[in-house]
Amino acid sequence: MKHRFHITTYGCQMNDYDSLVIESLLLSEGHEKALSIDDASLVIVNGCSVREHAEERAMGFLSSVRKETKKAKKIVLAGCLARSVENIPDFIDIAVSPTEYANFPKMVNDNFSFTEIESTGDYSGVNISSGITLLTPISKGCDNFCSYCIVPFLRGKEISFSPENILMQIKRSISKETKEIMLMGQNVNSYMYKNTDFSSLAAMVLKEFKDMRVRFITSHPKDFSIKLVEMMSENKNFCSHLHLPLQSGSDRMLSLMHRKYTIKDFTAIVDSARKLLPEITITSDIMVGLPQESEGDFQETLDAVKTLRFDDAFMYRYSPRRFTLSRYFDEVSPDEGLSRLKKLIETQLIIKKEKAEAYEVATRRKNQG
Ligand code: SAH
Ligand code: SF4
Ligand code: F3S
Repeated sequence: MKHRFHITTYGCQMNDYDSLVIESLLLSEGHEKALSIDDASLVIVNGCSVREHAEERAMGFLSSVRKETKKAKKIVLAGCLARSVENIPDFIDIAVSPTEYANFPKMVNDNFSFTEIESTGDYSGVNISSGITLLTPISKGCDNFCSYCIVPFLRGKEISFSPENILMQIKRSISKETKEIMLMGQNVNSYMYKNTDFSSLAAMVLKEFKDMRVRFITSHPKDFSIKLVEMMSENKNFCSHLHLPLQSGSDRMLSLMHRKYTIKDFTAIVDSARKLLPEITITSDIMVGLPQESEGDFQETLDAVKTLRFDDAFMYRYSPRRFTLSRYFDEVSPDEGLSRLKKLIETQLIIKKEKAEAYEVATRRKNQG
């Protein structure tokens, strides 16, 4: 049977990319894209598991689709969430995790048997359709095992793809619409293929695709090389943006998180980057309410945010996750966590506004000559 399918994606750019892979694989087997969920016979939710809230949103959505449509549609749970849930609820017909997509077109057949599964999770041979931004994974998995994070358990060991494959995939996937290339990995700075590190890979991409803007996400302070900022200042098509997750401003918390850098190391990167390239924008991820975070640790995070003055930040309250080490430590109360998050967001919002205003004034001055 040929299906009309609809995909809803939650989570990070890795899931966005995977949804393009699923789409391409289904289209190549003769299935069609549905105009809407109502029109679809196959409803796919590519879910994220990084925080409880992300799980609840995806599961709530799937259960409401099942209630509205009774048995008329096949319902699929995909992505990190398909791997992390303990018991797949009855209203889900198929669960497919990130390494299994190559078999997904077979799975949607009614006569599929599980013995047919054999898949590695390498999708470099799949033609994905690119919009303005071409999503390009340069590695998969993560070996960092930050104590609060479920991602390494869902995405597996870190494997860097070969530069040849990455360049070939970019060439093949660029469309008329494409204006920028986003190099993606859980930690792009630990990319290493034989002797090629991330700076060398970025240099190859910049040279080969001179008319494209090149960006990357996400950086890890412990592996970050300032050479990347030097390259940004030398290459007009290398976007002057750094997403550098701080996570906490307390060295004690950073150590409990297994982040392997100190606030001093982090500040040194930010200072050098701004010195080399004053117009660089720096954004971050920050967490509060981790087990054992004291009021003093939280104050250090607020102080760090005031000193570092990020252009923007994603801020989260800790959410306990399966498999992770943090689950075994005493938790901060949810109310305390929420009140810290509120204070953090207020502090960062003021900085964001001040920075945006200063930028506007500087641009106006520049335009007036
Ligand atoms: N690989 C990237 C992104 C990881 S997930 C990195 O290391 O930066 C994106 C963000 O979600 C993390 O940076 C962290 O701030 C947040 N996060 C991860 N696990 C979390 C948890 N258990 N609770 C709340 N936020 C979490
Ligand atoms: Fe999670 Fe840390 Fe890996 Fe990022 S680097 S995905 S936060 S374990
Ligand atoms: Fe991304 Fe969420 Fe998976 S953040 S790697 S989609 S758990």
